Order: sequence, then structure tokens, then C-alpha cells
Amino acid sequence: MNAGICADRRPPRLGVNIDHIATLRQARRTVEPDPVWGAALAELGGADLITVHLREDRRHIQERDVRILRETVQVPLNLEMAVDPEITAFARKCAPHQVTLVPEKRAEVTTEGGLDVIGQLPRVRDCINQLNEDGLVVSLFIDPDERQIEASAALGVPAVELHTGRYADAKTPAEQVAELDQLTKAVNFAHERHLAVHVGHGLTYRNVSPVAAIPLVEELNIGHSIVARSLMVGFKEAVAEMKRLIDLARMRGF
Ligand code: PXP
Repeated sequence: MNAGICADRRPPRLGVNIDHIATLRQARRTVEPDPVWGAALAELGGADLITVHLREDRRHIQERDVRILRETVQVPLNLEMAVDPEITAFARKCAPHQVTLVPEKRAEVTTEGGLDVIGQLPRVRDCINQLNEDGLVVSLFIDPDERQIEASAALGVPAVELHTGRYADAKTPAEQVAELDQLTKAVNFAHERHLAVHVGHGLTYRNVSPVAAIPLVEELNIGHSIVARSLMVGFKEAVAEMKRLIDLARMRGF
């Protein structure tokens, strides 16, 4: 079955990244707010999957969160992680529904740029092989770049997540149109290589619609903007608002 043709007609999935609920908790090293509660509210708001990033420095999500979420979340759990032996071992024990491999630098504020699959081929391949031994579904978070997409397809992963940071950071409407065009071409290029296409990073209530309207995008992972809005309107409502925008954009073709 060609997954893309089906995805064309269906609204894309919304993956709600709950890392920054944990960021607030870790600011005081206390027990609240609990991202596990956030995940339950996200599901009530219409989240199609829950996404968490277990960073090497544990600045937000902790192992405890992933373990409990794995037990409690009713939609699929997507674990973002670096190509790192310790975290790979943890992922294999936890068995999330999907693992997204991301690059990681300790000093960065957030994930800057996609994984350099070409530059780190042996490490990435070894990590994927280990995760595949336990039957885990692996997606690679990469820039919307044809060479990185080719390299990902050659590794046999079923999905890639294209980094939308350059689109989100565009300073002028013309720049934004150019980045959207490049993203759309990359989505089509990946789809032609039989990869399911996910997108994420820097997407907000203001800029999400053109990306959600790209026909072959199957999944959007969004965190900071939803958590920020939830402080004003509550988490369930913030998720529901984002879900409505995405569904509408796909229905109307933006
Ligand atoms: N997708 C991936 C792979 C990410 O690393 C992140 C940031 O953790 C996101 C999506 C969500 O980005 P944002 O918080 O900017 O919505």
C-alpha cells in the first residue's frame, strides 16, 4: 500500500510535544507541573500522538516520565533521542511506538538543524539496527535536503521528520514562501522514496497552516507554541485549537 496516497486524503496527525511542561517542573526540581497530566489533557484535546525528547542532559523529560507515559498514554508515544548508547539501551527497554533520532548539542537552546545522516552514517546505522532488533519504528529528524533524504531512504527507515526551523524563522513573506517551496519539494522527494513524511520545529498557531496543507505530510510535531498558549487557555484547549487549525488547513488546502 502506498501510505502517501492515503495520507493525502486524511488530515495529518498532531504529535504534541510535552517537553516544556517538564521544563517548568525542572526549573524548581519539584513534582509539578507533571508532563504525565499534560499528556492526558493533550489526548482529550485531540492529540494523535505524544512526543517527548529525553535529552542527554535531562533538562526537561526524565526517564520516569517516559516509563509512566509508556504505561498510561493511549495514543502512540514518540520518543525523540540522540544517537547515544545509554539512551538507546533505555529506549529498547521502554519500547515506545516510534523513536525519532535527532542531533543534540549540550549548549543548544533547542534542536538546531537536522541529523547529519551522511556525516554520521555508521553511528546512525548501528543505532537503527539496535532499535530494529526490538521491532521499534525509527524516524530520522533531518533538514529538508535531498542528499539527507536519499541517505535516510538508503538506511531503510520507514519515516523522516523534516526540520521546519528555516521556514519558521523566515524573516519576510518572500523568504517564507521560498522556504515553504523548498519544504514542499523535500516532502515530495521523500514520498517518492517511499518514506512517510513528518515535520516539526518552530511551528506555531500563526505559521502552521501552509505546512499542514502540504498534501503528503502525515504528522506534525509541535511543542513550544502549544505549551506557551496553554498557560493562557489551558492545555486541552490549546491542543484542540492547534488540531482544528491543522484539520482546516488540510481540508481547504490552505
Ligand atoms: N520535532 C523535533 C524532532 C524536535 O526536536 C522538536 C523540538 O524538541 C520539535 C519537533 C518541536 O519543536 P517546537 O517545540 O519548536 O514545536
